[in-house]
Amino acid sequence: MKIAVIQGPNLNMLGVREQQIYGPMKLEQIHAQMKDFAGQNKLEVEFFQSNLEGEIVDKIQECYGEVDGIIINAAAYTHTSIAIRDAISAVGIPAIEVHISNIHRREDFRKENMIAPVCTSSIVGFGPFGYHLAMMGMLQIMNEMKAAQEMQTQTTQAVE
Ligand code: DQA
Repeated sequence: MKIAVIQGPNLNMLGVREQQIYGPMKLEQIHAQMKDFAGQNKLEVEFFQSNLEGEIVDKIQECYGEVDGIIINAAAYTHTSIAIRDAISAVGIPAIEVHISNIHRREDFRKENMIAPVCTSSIVGFGPFGYHLAMMGMLQIMNEMKAAQEMQTQTTQAVE
Protein backbone atom coordinates (compact mmCIF):
# COMPACT_ATOMS: atom_id res chain seq x y z
CA MET A 1 0.00 0.00 0.00
CA LYS A 2 1.29 3.42 -0.95
CA ILE A 3 0.83 6.75 0.86
CA ALA A 4 1.48 10.23 -0.59
CA VAL A 5 2.37 12.99 1.84
CA ILE A 6 1.53 16.40 0.33
CA GLN A 7 2.80 19.58 1.99
CA GLY A 8 1.57 23.05 1.11
CA PRO A 9 3.10 26.53 1.08
CA ASN A 10 5.73 27.64 3.57
CA LEU A 11 6.05 24.20 5.16
CA ASN A 12 9.50 24.05 3.54
CA MET A 13 10.31 26.82 6.06
CA LEU A 14 9.62 24.67 9.12
CA GLY A 15 12.43 25.03 11.64
CA VAL A 16 12.79 28.68 10.59
CA ARG A 17 9.25 30.10 10.50
CA GLU A 18 7.46 31.07 13.74
CA GLN A 19 9.07 28.45 15.96
CA GLN A 20 6.80 29.44 18.86
CA ILE A 21 3.88 28.10 16.76
CA TYR A 22 5.41 25.35 14.60
CA GLY A 23 8.40 24.26 16.70
CA PRO A 24 12.03 23.71 15.71
CA MET A 25 11.69 20.56 13.57
CA LYS A 26 12.51 20.80 9.87
CA LEU A 27 10.30 19.23 7.21
CA GLU A 28 13.08 16.76 6.28
CA GLN A 29 13.21 15.52 9.88
CA ILE A 30 9.43 15.03 9.97
CA HIS A 31 9.60 13.12 6.68
CA ALA A 32 12.49 10.95 7.91
CA GLN A 33 10.39 9.88 10.92
CA MET A 34 7.39 9.14 8.69
CA LYS A 35 9.61 7.09 6.38
CA ASP A 36 10.83 5.03 9.36
CA PHE A 37 7.26 4.36 10.45
CA ALA A 38 6.27 3.39 6.91
CA GLY A 39 9.22 0.99 6.63
CA GLN A 40 8.35 -0.66 9.95
CA ASN A 41 4.77 -1.18 8.80
CA LYS A 42 5.37 -2.27 5.20
CA LEU A 43 3.92 0.92 3.72
CA GLU A 44 5.42 2.74 0.76
CA VAL A 45 5.56 6.51 1.22
CA GLU A 46 6.37 9.45 -1.08
CA PHE A 47 6.77 13.12 -0.18
CA PHE A 48 5.83 16.26 -2.10
CA GLN A 49 5.98 19.93 -1.10
CA SER A 50 4.92 22.93 -3.17
CA ASN A 51 4.19 26.59 -2.62
CA LEU A 52 1.90 26.63 -5.67
CA GLU A 53 -1.78 25.74 -5.60
CA GLY A 54 -1.87 24.33 -9.16
CA GLU A 55 1.10 22.05 -8.49
CA ILE A 56 -0.69 20.64 -5.45
CA VAL A 57 -3.82 20.04 -7.55
CA ASP A 58 -1.65 18.29 -10.21
CA LYS A 59 -0.01 16.11 -7.55
CA ILE A 60 -3.37 15.04 -6.08
CA GLN A 61 -4.61 14.15 -9.59
CA GLU A 62 -1.43 12.12 -10.22
CA CYS A 63 -2.25 10.08 -7.11
CA TYR A 64 -5.32 8.63 -8.87
CA GLY A 65 -4.77 4.93 -9.49
CA GLU A 66 -1.25 5.13 -8.01
CA VAL A 67 -1.72 5.81 -4.32
CA ASP A 68 -3.96 4.27 -1.63
CA GLY A 69 -3.97 7.13 0.88
CA ILE A 70 -3.11 10.84 1.06
CA ILE A 71 -1.81 12.75 4.08
CA ILE A 72 -2.08 16.46 3.34
CA ASN A 73 -1.22 19.69 5.09
CA ALA A 74 -2.54 22.24 2.60
CA ALA A 75 -1.23 24.98 4.94
CA ALA A 76 -2.65 28.44 4.04
CA TYR A 77 -4.56 26.95 1.06
CA THR A 78 -6.67 25.04 3.60
CA HIS A 79 -8.56 28.24 4.22
CA THR A 80 -9.04 29.32 0.60
CA SER A 81 -8.63 26.57 -1.98
CA ILE A 82 -11.75 25.13 -3.55
CA ALA A 83 -9.43 23.71 -6.27
CA ILE A 84 -7.52 21.53 -3.77
CA ARG A 85 -10.76 20.49 -2.11
CA ASP A 86 -12.25 19.48 -5.49
CA ALA A 87 -9.09 17.54 -6.41
CA ILE A 88 -9.26 15.48 -3.20
CA SER A 89 -12.93 14.87 -3.81
CA ALA A 90 -12.32 13.96 -7.48
CA VAL A 91 -9.70 11.25 -6.88
CA GLY A 92 -11.76 9.64 -4.10
CA ILE A 93 -8.66 8.48 -2.21
CA PRO A 94 -8.89 8.38 1.61
CA ALA A 95 -7.21 11.56 2.88
CA ILE A 96 -6.13 12.71 6.33
CA GLU A 97 -5.42 16.40 6.81
CA VAL A 98 -2.79 17.50 9.31
CA HIS A 99 -2.22 20.90 10.89
CA ILE A 100 0.76 21.35 13.15
CA SER A 101 -0.92 24.16 15.07
CA ASN A 102 -4.45 24.16 16.45
CA ILE A 103 -6.12 26.20 13.70
CA HIS A 104 -9.30 26.50 15.80
CA ARG A 105 -7.47 28.50 18.48
CA ARG A 106 -5.86 31.00 16.12
CA GLU A 107 -7.06 33.88 13.94
CA ASP A 108 -10.66 33.74 12.71
CA PHE A 109 -9.61 33.33 9.05
CA ARG A 110 -7.99 29.98 9.98
CA LYS A 111 -11.35 28.65 11.20
CA GLU A 112 -12.54 28.56 7.58
CA ASN A 113 -11.57 25.11 6.23
CA MET A 114 -12.21 24.07 2.62
CA ILE A 115 -10.33 20.77 2.95
CA ALA A 116 -11.72 19.06 6.08
CA PRO A 117 -15.16 18.16 4.63
CA VAL A 118 -13.57 16.00 1.90
CA CYS A 119 -11.09 14.27 4.24
CA THR A 120 -11.60 11.11 6.26
CA SER A 121 -10.23 12.88 9.32
CA SER A 122 -8.31 15.90 10.58
CA ILE A 123 -5.44 16.00 13.07
CA VAL A 124 -4.70 19.45 14.51
CA GLY A 125 -2.63 20.96 17.27
CA PHE A 126 -0.24 18.09 18.08
CA GLY A 127 2.81 19.78 16.56
CA PRO A 128 4.92 17.63 14.20
CA PHE A 129 3.71 14.55 16.14
CA GLY A 130 0.45 15.01 14.22
CA TYR A 131 2.16 13.54 11.15
CA HIS A 132 3.00 10.39 13.13
CA LEU A 133 -0.63 10.17 14.29
CA ALA A 134 -1.70 10.56 10.65
CA MET A 135 0.56 7.63 9.64
CA MET A 136 -1.00 5.51 12.41
CA GLY A 137 -4.47 6.54 11.26
CA MET A 138 -3.61 5.75 7.66
CA LEU A 139 -2.29 2.30 8.65
CA GLN A 140 -5.62 1.62 10.33
CA ILE A 141 -7.54 2.77 7.22
CA MET A 142 -5.31 0.59 4.97
CA ASN A 143 -5.85 -2.46 7.22
CA GLU A 144 -9.62 -1.90 7.16
CA MET A 145 -9.54 -1.58 3.35
CA LYS A 146 -7.54 -4.82 3.03
CA ALA A 147 -9.94 -6.66 5.36
CA ALA A 148 -12.94 -5.39 3.36
CA GLN A 149 -11.32 -6.50 0.07
CA GLU A 150 -10.59 -9.97 1.51
CA MET A 151 -14.16 -10.27 2.75
CA GLN A 152 -15.42 -9.27 -0.72
CA THR A 153 -13.20 -11.89 -2.40
CA GLN A 154 -14.41 -14.60 -0.01
CA THR A 155 -18.07 -13.66 -0.64
CA THR A 156 -17.55 -13.70 -4.42
CA GLN A 157 -15.83 -17.11 -4.23
CA ALA A 158 -18.63 -18.53 -2.04
CA VAL A 159 -21.26 -17.42 -4.60
CA GLU A 160 -19.38 -18.96 -7.56
C1 DQA B 1 -0.87 25.14 9.16
C2 DQA B 1 -1.92 26.15 9.63
C3 DQA B 1 -2.27 27.13 8.52
O1 DQA B 1 -3.24 28.05 8.97
C4 DQA B 1 -1.04 27.91 8.12
O2 DQA B 1 -1.33 28.78 7.05
C5 DQA B 1 0.13 27.04 7.81
C6 DQA B 1 0.36 25.85 8.62
C7 DQA B 1 -0.43 24.19 10.30
O3 DQA B 1 0.16 23.17 9.98
O4 DQA B 1 -0.64 24.50 11.47
O5 DQA B 1 0.94 27.35 6.94
O6 DQA B 1 -1.44 24.34 8.14
